[in-house]
Amino acid sequence: MPFAHIIGTGSAVPERVLTNQDLEQIVDTTDEWIVRRSGIKERRIARQDKNETTTELGLSAARRAMQTAGVTADQIDGIIAATVTGDRLFPSTACMIQKELGADNAAAYDISAGCSGFVYGLEQANNGIRMGVSRTVLVVGTERLSSVLNWEDRSTCVLLGDGAGAVLLHGSDEPGGILSTHIKSDGRLWDLLYAEAGNNPPPAMLESLAFLPHHLKMEGNRLFKQAVPSMVKIAEQAIEHNKLSREDIQLMVPHQANVRILQAVAERLQIPMEKVYTNLHKYGNTSSASIPIALDEAYQEGRIKKGDYVLVVAFGAGLTWGASIIQWSL
Ligand code: UT7
Repeated sequence: MPFAHIIGTGSAVPERVLTNQDLEQIVDTTDEWIVRRSGIKERRIARQDKNETTTELGLSAARRAMQTAGVTADQIDGIIAATVTGDRLFPSTACMIQKELGADNAAAYDISAGCSGFVYGLEQANNGIRMGVSRTVLVVGTERLSSVLNWEDRSTCVLLGDGAGAVLLHGSDEPGGILSTHIKSDGRLWDLLYAEAGNNPPPAMLESLAFLPHHLKMEGNRLFKQAVPSMVKIAEQAIEHNKLSREDIQLMVPHQANVRILQAVAERLQIPMEKVYTNLHKYGNTSSASIPIALDEAYQEGRIKKGDYVLVVAFGAGLTWGASIIQWSL
């Protein structure tokens, strides 16, 4: 069975920076509250007039991952896009990216697993490569959450941001790469985080406008309490499955929702914060894009080296959660 190696990473974020101070002018909040409760200082917000769509952000991240890998579009046989904010209800964002790349030999589809979407995508890509169904697969996490935010709801609009990240996976006989993926969901708690309508809502009707169907709704406090134990448990499963110890993990790259979640997970896993990658102070929570952006930045900054064991762990709407251990190949 071939092993699925990450041979390229890339990311792309919109130009416009929205700081906590900017948000103080929009809703009843303070920089102090946002930093203390979440760790976020600023986030990026896409601009339609700059063509910073979900597809375009994902496309830029994908192109950068292909560039690092030295892979051309015709070599790609799978494109998986994880997103909850596609530009259209259908077709998939992955198909839009396929068209722009000219990756005519690929099968492209989307995954909707909230903030865990990237880990779900890794699982799909890894299975396909391990089974010999595909050889070179692009996994993209891309989001434009600003388009589904209620900018009058201070409990959500200060937390999220836009961006995209991508990895390119390639099958080879050399051991390493994606060592395992574990994913899990609990649909009973779907209503802790949801948006009623898609990014392109049906024609507005007075009664539907009243409950803001396309706006994200979140019960942050209850989510927080679900996130920590779920992330810890699935990370422990991943570590044990690979017969590793916590000390073997060189870097944990968690979904970037809240620095307090990251600290609580790290503490329970007994992984020191120096080994936890965080960039949420710059981007906020970018849902399925947060882990691939973090992986790309961690790699570019020299925080991950060839042979390192990297633990990625996610939690999000669904509810969904997941973990993967990657032996870094770059
Ligand atoms: O991406 C995956 C899914 N997302 C998550 O896992 C997010 C998990 N949840 C969280 O990150 C945190 O729960 C939040 C950051 C969302 C909130 O932090 P918290 O410590 O749980 O605060 P809270 O919701 O309990 O609110 C505390 C207080 C409330 O006021 P009262 O009732 O104590 O008077 C809120 O009304 O803070 C108030 N508040 C704010 N104050 C200033 C809520 N949002 C704001 C705000 N600025 N932006």
